[in-house]
Amino acid sequence: MDEPITKRLKEMLTLERYPLSAKYPPEWVLENQMGPNALWLMEWLCETMDLKPGMRVLDMGCGKAMSSIFLAKEFDVQVWANDLWIDATDNWERICKAGVAEHVFPIHAEARSLPYAHGFFDAIVSVDSYHYYGTDDLYLKSFAKFVKPSGQIGIVVPGLMRNFEGDMPSYLERFWDPGECFSFHTVEWWRRHWEQTRLVDIELADTQPDGWRDWLLFEEMSPLSL
Ligand SMILES: C[S@@+](CC[C@H](N)C(=O)[O-])C[C@H]1O[C@@H](n2cnc3c(N)ncnc32)[C@H](O)[C@@H]1O
Repeated sequence: MDEPITKRLKEMLTLERYPLSAKYPPEWVLENQMGPNALWLMEWLCETMDLKPGMRVLDMGCGKAMSSIFLAKEFDVQVWANDLWIDATDNWERICKAGVAEHVFPIHAEARSLPYAHGFFDAIVSVDSYHYYGTDDLYLKSFAKFVKPSGQIGIVVPGLMRNFEGDMPSYLERFWDPGECFSFHTVEWWRRHWEQTRLVDIELADTQPDGWRDWLLFEEMSPLSL
C-alpha cells in the first residue's frame, strides 16, 4: 500500500471514541476484517466488561482473531480464540506474528459443540457472531455454562433499531441477505430473549451510538486498501 493511502487510512481509523483500536496498523485491520471493525466493537464492549489481567476469556466467533489479539494486548487476559469459518492454523500464525502466542489460543469449534469445561471462563465475549447461532431459544443454556457462576458474558451483534412495519423497506434490499439478516433483531428482542431464560442477570442491553455510521465508514475504507 503506498504511503499517502496508508496515512489516509490511519486518519480514518483514528477515532477519538476508540483510542485503543487506533494503535493497530490500518493494513492489518483491513486485511483481517470480516464485516464491521471488530476492534471498534470489542473496544466498545470492553467499556462495560470488567476484565482483569490473567482472566480466562472466550472470544466466541473471533473470525481472524483480531479481537482476541486486542484483548490480550490491551487487557493482559488469556484468550481462547474460537471460530468456525477460519482455520485455527491461520489464526495461530496471526497470533504468533502479533507477539501474543503465550496469551491467545486458537480453537476451531462449532458453537453448538464447544469443547470447554463448564465454569472454565471468567468472561465470554463475542462481536458480530452470536446472531449466527444464538437466536435459538435454547442456545444460551448450552453456552452460559462455560462461564463461572459469577462470570460475565458480553456480546455485540448487528441489529435493528426498530422492527419493520410489514415487508422489509426497499432501500435495504441492496444490503439485505435474507439468509443471514433475518437474525438481526432489536435490543428489546435480545433483552427479552435472554431475560426469559432466567439464566443470566442482565446488567446492560443497549445500542451503540452511531454504530451504523462506524460500520458505513469502515465499509468505505475497504476499497482504499486494495
Ligand atoms: C461476520 S464473522 C465476524 C468475525 C469476527 N468476530 C469479526 O468481527 O471480525 C462471523 C464469525 O462467526 C463465526 N460463526 C458463525 N457461525 C458459527 C458457529 N455455528 N459456530 C462457531 N462460530 C460461528 C464464523 O466462523 C465467523 O468468523
